[in-house]
Amino acid sequence: MKLGVNIDHIATLRNARGGIEPNLVEAAKIILKEDILALTMHLREDRRHIKDKDLYDIKELGAKINLEMAATSEIQKIALDIVPYSVCIVPERRLEITTEGGLDVFGQKEKLKEFIKPLKDKGIKVSMFIDPNKEQIEASSYIEADYIEMHTGCFSRAFDSNDWSEELDKLKQSATYAEKLGLKVNAGHGLNYKNVYLMKEIKEISELNIGHSIISRAVFVGIEKAVNEMLELIK
Ligand code: PXP
Repeated sequence: MKLGVNIDHIATLRNARGGIEPNLVEAAKIILKEDILALTMHLREDRRHIKDKDLYDIKELGAKINLEMAATSEIQKIALDIVPYSVCIVPERRLEITTEGGLDVFGQKEKLKEFIKPLKDKGIKVSMFIDPNKEQIEASSYIEADYIEMHTGCFSRAFDSNDWSEELDKLKQSATYAEKLGLKVNAGHGLNYKNVYLMKEIKEISELNIGHSIISRAVFVGIEKAVNEMLELIK
């Protein structure tokens, strides 16, 4: 099982001050020293965290990018120019805080089939971010996506209320079914240091995409050193 690190939240922190710190490229260089598969970046329509330039800067580092994107022609054009390692098609609503729920592939099969074709033709792996259910898996197979990424948000919330077995079963059954249909399986959203061990029970998963918990943890593993360095400087 491989790890993709979502770096959107580093960009969120940077944008809070409108400056260049924390510098995304410097962060990416540190992350890339570890055994990770890709840097995941969501270029949203409103550019609330990742900006177009970030994608080009990270691409220049030679990093594999997993680009999360809505199925719009504006972002498709950028994806075709960047040629990331993979794209993950996600639903996007302007007022949401984060991606809520999976993409309705079933309800827009023909549109999505057409939409992903030029991406696939460029050799980009295409993934559909869906809730773990049969209808959406079958639709993802129909449109010839390479991967599904199972939305683990419900599982993560259920884990927090100590009642996760049904949600975990849904993920397990969906992963088995997707693999049977020839789809590769990724998962992500809301995974953290407490619940991630359960993903190891799903042998079909090839990649996990994790962001918020890693960036949050980075604050706590780094804050002591950061404060001490500042203390040294003002002594
Ligand atoms: N996968 C997808 C498709 C997402 O939209 C997100 C959130 O940006 C993630 C994974 C990572 O979720 P989290 O930040 O909760 O780890």
